[in-house]
Amino acid sequence: MDIVGLLKTMTLVEKLGQLSQYASAWLDTSLDSPLTGPKSQIKLTDEEYTAIGSTFSFKNATVMKKLQEQHLKNDPKKIPLLFMDNVVHGYRTIYPVPLGMSATFDVELVEECCAMAAKEAVTAGVHVTFAPMVDVSRDARWGRCVESAGEDPYLNSEMGRAQVRGYQGNMDPSKNIAACVKHYAAYGQAEAGRDYNTTDMSERTLRDFYLPAYQATVDEDVRMVMTSFNALNGVPSSGNKWLVKDILRDEWGFDGVVISDFKAFDEMRTHGYCETESDCAEKAMNATSDIEMMSACYFRTIPALIEQGKLSMQQIDEAVLRVLKLKEELGLFENPYSFASEEESEKVCLCAEHRALAKKAVVKSAVLLKNENILPFDKNKAKRIAVIGPFGDYNGLDQWACRGRNEDVVTVLQGIKNLLPNKEIVFARGCGDEINATDCSDIEAAVATAKSCDTVILCVGERADFSCEGKSRMELRLSKAQKTLINEIVKVNKNTAVVLYTGRPLVLTDCIDDMPALMTAWLPGTEGGNAIAELLFGDENFSGKLSMTFPRSEGQLPISYNAYKTGRPLLNEDNWARGFVSCYFDMPNTPLFSFGYGLSYTDFEISVPEINKTEMNSGETLTVSVKVKNIGKRNGETVLQLYICDEFASLVRPIKELKGFKKIELKPNEERAVSFEITEDMLKFWSANGKFEAESGSFRVWVSDVSTATENVRFVFSK
Ligand code: NOJ
Repeated sequence: MDIVGLLKTMTLVEKLGQLSQYASAWLDTSLDSPLTGPKSQIKLTDEEYTAIGSTFSFKNATVMKKLQEQHLKNDPKKIPLLFMDNVVHGYRTIYPVPLGMSATFDVELVEECCAMAAKEAVTAGVHVTFAPMVDVSRDARWGRCVESAGEDPYLNSEMGRAQVRGYQGNMDPSKNIAACVKHYAAYGQAEAGRDYNTTDMSERTLRDFYLPAYQATVDEDVRMVMTSFNALNGVPSSGNKWLVKDILRDEWGFDGVVISDFKAFDEMRTHGYCETESDCAEKAMNATSDIEMMSACYFRTIPALIEQGKLSMQQIDEAVLRVLKLKEELGLFENPYSFASEEESEKVCLCAEHRALAKKAVVKSAVLLKNENILPFDKNKAKRIAVIGPFGDYNGLDQWACRGRNEDVVTVLQGIKNLLPNKEIVFARGCGDEINATDCSDIEAAVATAKSCDTVILCVGERADFSCEGKSRMELRLSKAQKTLINEIVKVNKNTAVVLYTGRPLVLTDCIDDMPALMTAWLPGTEGGNAIAELLFGDENFSGKLSMTFPRSEGQLPISYNAYKTGRPLLNEDNWARGFVSCYFDMPNTPLFSFGYGLSYTDFEISVPEINKTEMNSGETLTVSVKVKNIGKRNGETVLQLYICDEFASLVRPIKELKGFKKIELKPNEERAVSFEITEDMLKFWSANGKFEAESGSFRVWVSDVSTATENVRFVFSK
């Protein structure tokens, strides 16, 4: 298709249509009523309505085909609609939420899962997914941390890249979809963890921690970028020219489509940054934001802005061309219905192969946080098993579980029954799953059940609808009823393992001592129960590591292992109450569980790291290696994590920063040397000169299986 030629034939309204996106329910003429639909809600004319270029959130292939047909019939230019959706952790076969997937530290697995999700989504006619989300999240109060890869910029970058590779593949429209990285930028640092709240940060914090993951996905050739709701240092992202035009496009070379978040152009008025829709449109277009989602500032006001000479037709044309180019790349002009097919959906979605991959993802993402010789349970000894708790038979799915269905979800109860069909398995809910559940009246019956069993699986946590967008929480503790349940159950049966369902790190300080064993399953999706059963009974081993710190208290938030150093660090945690150092008077600085932490059913011995030279010049590399040995009795995987600290620099540097990781599997007694190459790029940071550079001086290096490792080596870098 000659898209440049096509552009020349388009009217301004037709061009603005390509830059406007509305939810599918608004496009379905049969659904339009005085209360719904773009004509009534934002008063689009028939011509504008016909010109709309893209839509999102649609149910299935039938709806896609119906909307496309309706559109092509009316559109004189026959430019197909582009269909987008939130395919975030699976389309119909749902694997764990992104926070859980990042705990796998397994980029190949993440890529494979995204490729599976794309394959399913393609059968419904999806062209673009609003994923990956790479907002670095250091505040568990913020409900959207569930959508991210947690607190680390490097892990977010690697997970973001893997997702882009998985969704986009070779951009073969029969199995791949375009990715749209979001939410650019620094949305994860919403003040006080309150969603949509403002973000204020220095350029160095932005560059050191928050921007790298977006840039990594741009380097991976992500096709779209979604700007964020928040204002960054006073400027809402949709109209932030510095962020979008100067950094994203001019500095990083992004030439794909930029889309706003839901109604975010218009919300620049509510922010108090723009007074009129016209002001919103002018700022957004000058920032090179292409598609406006769910408001109509472009439609309403760009014609006049062009007439007044405030915007040029060239700006509009460039934006439209970017959208048309994406449509062309996705093959829409030749095949507007793409590969949408109900029959294919039936075949592909939830097929055995996809369920198996989703199960593997749950196994790899689960993190064993505590184990006082309880796990794995012995299948032979377990005669009567109790599954207890509000999450024991829970099939909830979160907001971004796309077209996943509750009835497809394998609960823990079901998973245990599937694994051990000949055992006696009993269930007691114990208490409700409400956020502040206080009703303990069912606990007595649950206690009696626990007493009558030799093995107890106690499932607690927070519901899937307590995290995600708009779901910030101030208190991250389990409800009073759940805490009482844990306490009472363990009193009568110590052979209890707690399974935590959660979309964020929770504060477990006041109940962790009661738990003989604890694993977090995150929000595991369709195959949760089967995988959890296999982990608990030892058919599978744990290998997940936390991608986000579990704090002791909400008062520690925001918290991350890679904080900047202070002049008065707390060097000895035992001395935490002594004052006049950077600490709390009433609680240790350390979290309950650190970034990178996670146990296994086997043990690994890791040697002190060694380096091949103590001096490294600019342009050279250096190798750091450790020997790792499985000293336990079973096969196991662990994640070796490379951390670096720049000891003295022109600006204060973090205590340590993750710069690499490798997941390795070892048989009992097997030992392997694992090495990482340190490059000059790994030493770079946003320096006092306002650019990324490595500075001469000394660096410390750790290689271990947790961020709190102490053994390190030192080298000197010279420019
Ligand atoms: C709002 C959310 O912030 C964003 O993540 C999502 O992709 C869009 N709505 C579209 O559903």
